Amino acid sequence: MILARRKLLKQIESFSIGYITLLLAGTKQISDLTPQQIEGPFYPINFPIDDDNDLTWIADKKNQALGEKIIIMGKVLTREYQPITSAKVEIWQACSSGRYNHEYDPNNAPIDPNFQGWGWTNTSGDGSYVFKTVKPGGYSVTRSWKRPPHIHFKVTLPSQQELITQLYFSEEKTLNERDKILQRIPQNQQPLVITKLMISEKFKMRIGQFNIII
Ligand SMILES: [Fe+2]
Repeated sequence: MILARRKLLKQIESFSIGYITLLLAGTKQISDLTPQQIEGPFYPINFPIDDDNDLTWIADKKNQALGEKIIIMGKVLTREYQPITSAKVEIWQACSSGRYNHEYDPNNAPIDPNFQGWGWTNTSGDGSYVFKTVKPGGYSVTRSWKRPPHIHFKVTLPSQQELITQLYFSEEKTLNERDKILQRIPQNQQPLVITKLMISEKFKMRIGQFNIII
């Protein structure tokens, strides 16, 4: 089972190189640095035993995480679009019900015991990274404020420079427009932290691209 998973991630990694190049070639160049956002209270205190870039399976567990499996991938680049190799990319997020695997999360939505919740990887020679995860659920912060589904990112460069931010989904327009954290970012920069999930026939999953410009 683990071998099959590793094989899938390998396939996605080699696929992603062509895919990202295509997207970068086909779109207008990004001129802005990725906006910083707050870390939030749910960065892990205890890290899961399984610490890879596939959050949908925990080593030794029989079942896969609940919810829609998605791929998030992109490149870590300098302002001049040069790839940054060996950057550490960490993600953490709520499971599909909107609950973090964190003792301070007050949400009483059911926690998914098969969801890894946090993972990390290093960027390869061309600056690319890939994660397999689930689309997170949104969660209420107050009675009038529900956070849209989002994934937290921490990127640490070999120089130790760090960027902390959050990634959102274009299909969550209403919640995105009301989110007090996303809305701290100037409107014209918000697209830099919002991804559009697009179906991949090859992997039978939706894929979101997120390039991180530091
Ligand atoms: Fe969060």
